[in-house]
Amino acid sequence: MTTSSSEHGVSLGMPELPAPAYPDDVRARLETDAREVIARYPDSRSALLPLLHLVQSEEGHVTRTGMRFCAEMLGLTTAEVTAVATFYTMYRRRPSGDYQVGVCTNTLCAVMGGDAIFEALQEHLGVGNGETTDDGKITLEHIECNAACDFAPVVMVNWEFFDNQTPAGAKRLVDDLRAGRPVQPTRGARMCTFKETARILAGFPDERPGAVEEGGSAGPASLVGLRLAKGETESARVVHPRGGPEGRRDAVHEPSPAEHLSSHDAPQQTSASDPAHPAGPTAEEGE
Ligand code: FES
Repeated sequence: MTTSSSEHGVSLGMPELPAPAYPDDVRARLETDAREVIARYPDSRSALLPLLHLVQSEEGHVTRTGMRFCAEMLGLTTAEVTAVATFYTMYRRRPSGDYQVGVCTNTLCAVMGGDAIFEALQEHLGVGNGETTDDGKITLEHIECNAACDFAPVVMVNWEFFDNQTPAGAKRLVDDLRAGRPVQPTRGARMCTFKETARILAGFPDERPGAVEEGGSAGPASLVGLRLAKGETESARVVHPRGGPEGRRDAVHEPSPAEHLSSHDAPQQTSASDPAHPAGPTAEEGE
């Protein structure tokens, strides 16, 4: 699927007409929600980020109409709202799929297989970076480091982590999403659509039964340093937060061990093993 320059929000030199307003019924509904969000902040302009998520939950991306709405609700100029909406990559500026599949191709993930995953998905889906499948389900994109390097290569779908991915697993992941099969991230609640995710990010309750309890946290490998700093000396082996294979998607994570171990999860040969450069606590932890 291709898009024109105007769809990217790129000015072609002609002044734009004012953005159209929402239909009355949509506006009334969004106003009720927006007032609830704004009331949470001592200064109304602080509500801009959640309000951008709110309008994104309505249309799937932040439109000029959405930015006009935010500006009117917060007493800001549309230029101020546009400056924020175009700064953060979590706000999409053009129509996209139900599932935003981001493949980390930053340095570590790239060398650990991220580039191969991205290539495989491009071929499998028939789309390039930033493009959406014809069924409107998947938008594929490169993403920058998501601070999950210890689980590289990482794929994110609507901001949920899929750790230690492979090309084959990533292809099954997008197939499951397109087919409407339930998909469980490695760390976090089961998947919902981009619009539903945007509403949660706007600060509204996640209405899916049990979803809050499914929410994840930092992965065990990310917390090894914290455990060591706190003087904990248990095994360095890191265990998946769900405690076993039943919480994982075998279709995505292959092989599917009970533990969240990969060739790069567990402590590797480090300076701790170099007698000339002992590394303190890490050396004590050992294997
Ligand atoms: S390089 Fe991919 S999460 Fe950091």
